[in-house]
Amino acid sequence: MAPQKKPDPYARPFLKWAGGKTQLLGEFEKRLPRGLKTRKITRYAEPFIGGGAVFFWLNKQFSFRHAYICDVNEELVLTYTVIRESTRDLIAALENLESEYLSRDEKAREEFYYGIRYALNRKLPAIDFHEYSADWVERAAWILFLNRTCFNGLFRVNRKGEFNVPFGRYKKPEILNEDNLSEVATLLRSTQILTGDFTRVGEFVDNKTFVYFDPPYRPLNGTSSFTSYSKSGFSDRDQERLVEFFRELDEKGAKCMLSNSDPRNENPDDTFFDDLFSDYYIERVPARRRINCNGACRGDINELIITNYPQR
Ligand SMILES: C[S@@+](CC[C@H](N)C(=O)[O-])C[C@H]1O[C@@H](n2cnc3c(N)ncnc32)[C@H](O)[C@@H]1O
Repeated sequence: MAPQKKPDPYARPFLKWAGGKTQLLGEFEKRLPRGLKTRKITRYAEPFIGGGAVFFWLNKQFSFRHAYICDVNEELVLTYTVIRESTRDLIAALENLESEYLSRDEKAREEFYYGIRYALNRKLPAIDFHEYSADWVERAAWILFLNRTCFNGLFRVNRKGEFNVPFGRYKKPEILNEDNLSEVATLLRSTQILTGDFTRVGEFVDNKTFVYFDPPYRPLNGTSSFTSYSKSGFSDRDQERLVEFFRELDEKGAKCMLSNSDPRNENPDDTFFDDLFSDYYIERVPARRRINCNGACRGDINELIITNYPQR
C-alpha cells in the first residue's frame, strides 16, 4: 500500500488568482518588519486580498491575533465568507460537483462546466452580496468548481459582471481539498472579512498592525485611462488615493509594505511610483513576467517593494 500523504496542517490559497504573489515571497521574507518576530505586531491587514498568497504564508509563521482582509470583488468575498460560515455544507456541495464532473467523459464534462457557468450568471441578479443566505453556499461551490476547471484558473467577468472564462481541459483537476478548506475555515474564524474599497481596513489599523498592499497593476504602455472605465478598474487616481491611505496608516504607526510592477520595465523615464512614494523606502527586485508574454517581451523585469520602514 502506498504511504498516505500527510495533510499540510497550514491553510493554503484555495483559489487560483491572477497576480498571485507566491514567486515574490522570498523577497518579502527579507523585508518583513522586525516587530513580527518580536511579537510586537499582533495584527495583520490586507486590503487587496485576492487569492491571499501572502496572508496564508504569513499566517504559517506568525499567528496573528486579529486579521482583516478586504477585496472589492464580491464573488471572492462571498467565497471566503462561506468557507468560514458553512464549511461542512460547502464541502458536501463540492463533493457532489466533483463526483458528477469526474464521472463524465470529456465532452460531457465540458457541457457540465457550461451548465454551472450558466447557472452562476443566471442567478447573479438575484444574489444579495450583503446578506448571508443559503444561496451563498451553492454559489461559493460553483465559484470554486469553475475556478478549478476553467481555462487557466482565471476569474474574469464581463461588463455585466458575468463570469465568462471558457472550459479548461484538465485530466484530473482537484475540485475539493477538504483538509485545506477546513484549515482555511479555522484561520478565517479569527479574521474579519470586508467587502469594498481598500480604505475599509483603515479603522482596524493601529500601531501593532502590519499592512501588506497588493493593488492591481498599473497598466503598461500608457493605456491607464482605459482601466478607469472598466468595472473593477484601478486608475492612476486610485493609485494616488492609495498613497494617501498608505500615509494615513503610516501616521497611525502601522508597518506598511506595498508591491507593484515597475513602470520603468517598459519606460525608463516613467517615475510614477518613485514620485508618489518619494517619502518612503523603495527597492526593485527581479520578478518573472506575467501572463501573455511571447518571445519579444521575455527577459527580466522588476517588481517594486515599498515600505515605510528601512528594508534591511
Ligand atoms: C493583484 S490582486 C491581489 C493578488 C493577491 N495578492 C494574491 O496573492 O492572489 C489585486 C486585488 O485587488 C482587488 N481590487 C481592485 N480594486 C480594489 C479596490 N478599490 N479596493 C479593494 N480591492 C480592490 C481585485 O479584486 C484583486 O483581487
